[in-house]
Amino acid sequence: MTQDELKQLVARAAVDYVKDGEVLGVGTGSTVDFFIDALKESGKQPSACVSSSVRSTKKLEALGFKVVDLNEVESIGVYVDGADEIDGGFSMIKGGGGALTREKIVASVAEKFVCICDGSKKVEVLGKFPLPVEVIPMAVQSVARKLRAFGGEPVERDFTTDNGCRILDVKGLAITAPHALEAQINAIPGVVTVGLFAARGADVLLLGTSEGVKCFEKEPKE
Ligand code: A5P
Repeated sequence: MTQDELKQLVARAAVDYVKDGEVLGVGTGSTVDFFIDALKESGKQPSACVSSSVRSTKKLEALGFKVVDLNEVESIGVYVDGADEIDGGFSMIKGGGGALTREKIVASVAEKFVCICDGSKKVEVLGKFPLPVEVIPMAVQSVARKLRAFGGEPVERDFTTDNGCRILDVKGLAITAPHALEAQINAIPGVVTVGLFAARGADVLLLGTSEGVKCFEKEPKE
């Protein structure tokens, strides 16, 4: 199976988590694009969607889904999104598509985060995929210097986010303590968000493999 076929497989499986009449959170990326298509095909009808990017909003609206501002809703049942890497503790690197800040905000409101990935995204240790960090434009160089002190090699992406900010992609990190690193990078003045999703990781992982969709659920805390 191709990578796109694996993405389509998990995208279809994620539709089962969508409830009619409930507000749905929608992430960003190529796997999510397949999910939006599958949602349309399924005939499921969320009451509204809260989108994490201009890209997903355009696609949702083009297919007839109602998209509302996060400020208009009090809760989101399920948030469906992809990841660039996910580890055994359900911590993720996200932001390859540049929508990390809105993704983190929408995910923080959702009761359940369903992560949809092809099998190549599952890793032992996060960090082979460069870690995206969204930064206020005036702080690009000062934040880059601080990130080098963590042992990373930041490279500014030729891209401006939906929030008018810049992204540093940090290479060379082996992220063995994602919770701690997320807090440390978020504390650097000028950082809007780091694309490490550990404090609010995934609750469910749907992994597309050549043997089919594998479903992993995070064990609830005691
Ligand atoms: C967007 O900013 C990202 O967080 C995406 O969710 C992530 O990069 C996965 O994208 P693909 O589904 O395109 O691999």
